[in-house]
Amino acid sequence: LRPQATCMLILDGKHLAGVLVDEIALEVQQRVEKGLKIPHLAAVLVGDNPASKSYVSNKIKSCARAGYVSTMVTPPADVSQAELMQIVLDLNNNPEIDGFIVQLPLPKHIDEQAITLAIDPKKDVDGFHPYNFGLMALGVETLLPATPFGIMLLLKRYGISTAGKTCVVIGRSNIVGTPISIMLGKKGDPGDCTVTLAHSRTPDLAKVIKRADIVIAAIGKPHFVTADMVKKGAIVIDVGINSIADATTKSGYRLVGDVDYAGLAHKVKAMTPVPGGVGPMTVAALMLNTMKAVKGREKK
Ligand SMILES: NC(=O)c1ccc[n+]([C@@H]2O[C@H](COP(=O)([O-])OP(=O)(O)OC[C@H]3O[C@@H](n4cnc5c(N)ncnc54)[C@H](OP(=O)(O)O)[C@@H]3O)[C@@H](O)[C@H]2O)c1
Repeated sequence: LRPQATCMLILDGKHLAGVLVDEIALEVQQRVEKGLKIPHLAAVLVGDNPASKSYVSNKIKSCARAGYVSTMVTPPADVSQAELMQIVLDLNNNPEIDGFIVQLPLPKHIDEQAITLAIDPKKDVDGFHPYNFGLMALGVETLLPATPFGIMLLLKRYGISTAGKTCVVIGRSNIVGTPISIMLGKKGDPGDCTVTLAHSRTPDLAKVIKRADIVIAAIGKPHFVTADMVKKGAIVIDVGINSIADATTKSGYRLVGDVDYAGLAHKVKAMTPVPGGVGPMTVAALMLNTMKAVKGREKK
C-alpha cells in the first residue's frame, strides 16, 4: 500500500501569530516616531502552576516581539482575596498600564468571578468582563475574548469561507465555546454560520458533529474527536491543550489537542495543530486587544 497523500491545509497558528505580532511591532515603531505611548501590558500570575507560568511567559515574550512594555505581578499561591483584589484595583488605577490579564485558573480559595468583575473593562484585554462579553454578543466593537478572537483571525487570514456553513462548537465555557458560538453566528466574515453549541449533555454527539462543515473542539479531553465523527472535507479548529504521558520525550509528557490529529489528517480540508494552532493565536489576539485598549484610552 502506498501511503495516502494528504492535501490537508495546516492552519499554522504559530506562523500567523508571528506575522500579526510583527505587524503590531511596525505599528508600535510608528507610534514611537509620532511620540505616542508605547503599549504596556501587565500579567498577574498567582502561584506557580507550571501551565499558567508557561502561558504567561509566552505572553511576555510576545510583548517583547511587539515592542510593548510588559510587567509581571507574581503574588504567591496563598495570596488572600483582599490582597489580589488590591492588585487588580492598583492596575486599574495605574495610568501607565493599558491592559492587564489575571491568568486563570486561580487558587480554589479565590473567588474568580469577583476578580474578573473588578477588572476595568477598558483594560480587560482577555475580554472576559461581562461588559465586554455583552457588547460582543450585541455585535458592538469591543475587546473580544482572546481565544475566540484568535480563532476568528485565523479563519479570516486563511480565507476560510464561513458564510452559510454549519458549525458545531463542542464545549460551552464562558471563555471559548459560548463566545465563539455567538461570534460565528453573527453577520460578518468570518460569521454567518448556522451554529450548534454542543456539550456533555448533547445526545448523539457524533451525529451532530458529522453534520458540521466547521468543527470547533474546546472540551479538554485528549483525542476526543475521532475521524469517524467528522464529515469529509470539514474545517477543524482544535482548541484543547491536554498534557499526556510520553516516555519518549525528555519531560515525560507531551501536549495534544481534543482532536485525533493524525486520524483526521486524511479526511479534513484544514485543521489546526496542537501545539502551534489556537494557542499562539490567543496570544496574538491579546496583543491586538492591548493595542485597541491603548487607542481607546487615547480617544477618551
Ligand atoms: N488554545 C488556547 O488558547 C486555549 C484557551 C482556553 C482553553 N484552552 C483549552 O481548551 C480546552 C477547553 O477549555 P475550556 O476552558 O473552554 O472548557 P471547560 O471550562 O473545561 O469546559 C469544557 C467543556 O467541554 C464540555 N465537555 C466535557 N466533556 C464532554 C463530552 N464528553 N462531550 C461533550 N462535551 C463535553 C463541557 O460540557 P458541560 O458544560 O456540559 O460540562 C464543557 O462545556 C482545554 O483543554 C483548555 O486547556 C485552550
